[in-house]
Amino acid sequence: SLAGVDVVEEIHRLKKERNAIILAHYYQKPEIQDIADFVGDSLELSRKAAETDADVIAFCGVKFMAETAKILSPEKIVVLPDMDAGCSLEDSCPPDKFKAFRDEHPDHIALTYINCSAEVKALSDIIVTSSSAEHILSQIPKDQKIIFGPDKHLGGYIAKKTGRDMLLWPGVCIVHEAFSETELLKLQTQHPDAPVAAHPECPAYILDHADMVGSTSAILKYAKEFEGDTIIIATEPHIIHQMEKAVPEKNFIGAPGADGNCNCNICPYMALNTMEKLYVALRDLEPRIEMDEELRLQARKSIDKMMEMAS
Ligand code: 13P
Ligand code: SF4
Repeated sequence: SLAGVDVVEEIHRLKKERNAIILAHYYQKPEIQDIADFVGDSLELSRKAAETDADVIAFCGVKFMAETAKILSPEKIVVLPDMDAGCSLEDSCPPDKFKAFRDEHPDHIALTYINCSAEVKALSDIIVTSSSAEHILSQIPKDQKIIFGPDKHLGGYIAKKTGRDMLLWPGVCIVHEAFSETELLKLQTQHPDAPVAAHPECPAYILDHADMVGSTSAILKYAKEFEGDTIIIATEPHIIHQMEKAVPEKNFIGAPGADGNCNCNICPYMALNTMEKLYVALRDLEPRIEMDEELRLQARKSIDKMMEMAS
């Protein structure tokens, strides 16, 4: 039982005792972001996981992120507060189907979004994040044929931006799919001077209205620097916590779903992690990411390519 346990105090104590680092994504609850040693986007979190000299990584994010940390730091214990914290993009891309798709297109390389399983990473040539996808694509020869998966919106966005043709896997993020164009346009008429910052996992009908498109870290940077007093944020709304901390005098509005507010855009997988589960994970060093070594080494190749090619 957790009765009588001061969870915040215990997390601090256990962190020292275990020589643990807490890494958190911007989509985590405010209290988790606040207790983390580092909060970042997927690429930054991967880099932190690779660099840290902690013995334990408590990964407050979703499973593919914790798996990436384990792939990069196999000697460390990586715990994920809730092992059911998955991702709809990962679910949309079963490894056997992805392999069959690759086999049908032997002259294509696979450029794959980090939001996928370790098995799919092992079947890929180069991993990308939202912050590095365009830059990595620009380094691939123009005549090279490419499969891009699993996010068709990110793939479609960078294909259009760079004028490249890519074969897109039909996966989507359920969170970014939930934004409503009709409601966004209504909101924009109420705030005609507010820029819209959007994540590239949004469908094109949302990105078409965006003044800025980028990763969570890029959106945060833009929100801190834009001139004006109100901004509309088209990504998971927990990131607004960092914006309100950095520039409290500004007004951050989450882009709406079909019901006119942004609560339907909370990532249900990210939301599974809680302070109580983080405490238990540090206490018990469970649930732990374990991975077959052959799979790890194979997945590592495509992640290492990303690390080399991302600026
Ligand atoms: P980034 O933080 O890399 O932009 O990715 C967002 C995301 O989908 C996390 O699941
Ligand atoms: Fe996956 Fe979307 Fe949740 Fe990110 S926000 S973890 S892409 S479901």
